[in-house]
Amino acid sequence: MSDLLRPQLNRRSFLRQTIGFSALAAFSPATLFAQQGGNDSPAPDPANQHLLMIGDWGTNKYLGQQIAVASGMKNFVDNRKIKPGALFMLGDNFYGSLIGGVDSPRWQTQFEQMYPTSHFPGKAYAVLGNHDYEFKIAFKVDTELAYAAHAQGTRWTMPAPWYTFKFPENDPIITFICLDTNLPGTKGDFFGTGITMTKAHRDEQDAWLRAELAKPRTTPFLAMVGHHPLYTNGIHKDNPILIKDWDPLLRQYKVDFYITGHDHDLQHLEFGGHPTSFVISGGGGAELVDWTTPPEKRGPFGGKVLGFTNMELNKNAVIMRHYNQAGQELHSFRKTPDGKVELLRPAVS
Ligand SMILES: [Fe+2]
Repeated sequence: MSDLLRPQLNRRSFLRQTIGFSALAAFSPATLFAQQGGNDSPAPDPANQHLLMIGDWGTNKYLGQQIAVASGMKNFVDNRKIKPGALFMLGDNFYGSLIGGVDSPRWQTQFEQMYPTSHFPGKAYAVLGNHDYEFKIAFKVDTELAYAAHAQGTRWTMPAPWYTFKFPENDPIITFICLDTNLPGTKGDFFGTGITMTKAHRDEQDAWLRAELAKPRTTPFLAMVGHHPLYTNGIHKDNPILIKDWDPLLRQYKVDFYITGHDHDLQHLEFGGHPTSFVISGGGGAELVDWTTPPEKRGPFGGKVLGFTNMELNKNAVIMRHYNQAGQELHSFRKTPDGKVELLRPAVS
């Protein structure tokens, strides 16, 4: 194991781990660091496993912003000598129409070439956002599923609207349960397309999710991944439908991470006594949006920036790091299999 990911059990971090979790909901990040000191974030270790994730990236209006974030991701891989085992595409994969369906040139320009195999050779696991649930000449959900099934040599991975996999494939560390968050009644699109999954599909996914969660854990970490957050300080606000359906499951099964996009920013939310770390990575390219809850009030972190998220893993810890498009580390934290969360002081780059 890399020493960099080994929890440092000195007195200061012991105190932080002991008092830190329940305090997160009550104190701002600045207060936390002032009280607790904060260990420095270690440099990403190429010897560990890495995933890079972005949401809200396939923009039809802000291509320059998508290119800037993709460049930041490539520079991160180059500078840190990281070999990402996979990408996570957190929904709102394509805004606007995909004229030509699976043959749309946007697949090449905005996915295959935008995130090239030279830097991202692993699978690109994708989930469906509200903008993917649009009829724009064709139903984009069908197109995205068909592209995964039929495109020659693509890394685009979406075997179904909901699916699970373990990462890495050999000797896995984490189980991902990937979900379709477009539940009936969830008005995902700020401008209101109103298309969601059917009640029948909602019930089918619900039964599947509960069965997956009920299986004995085989990995140190467990994450649920989708597009819509349960909790967000961003413009879309907390989602009462998802909270009602899934928050009890997150608590019951002690899910370590709930990872989404949707709000075009980077966030990390913790709640006292809640086992789940809520991570939002929606800075893949689309226009930035405003806060409805100041991140100073509910944190520990919110950044109204374009950017991406790195997940570094070994069996003893996960480190999540938010980066802006320039590759500057904005926020990071370490989580261990016992559920402890330790905020890290972002590295100065
Ligand atoms: Fe969205």
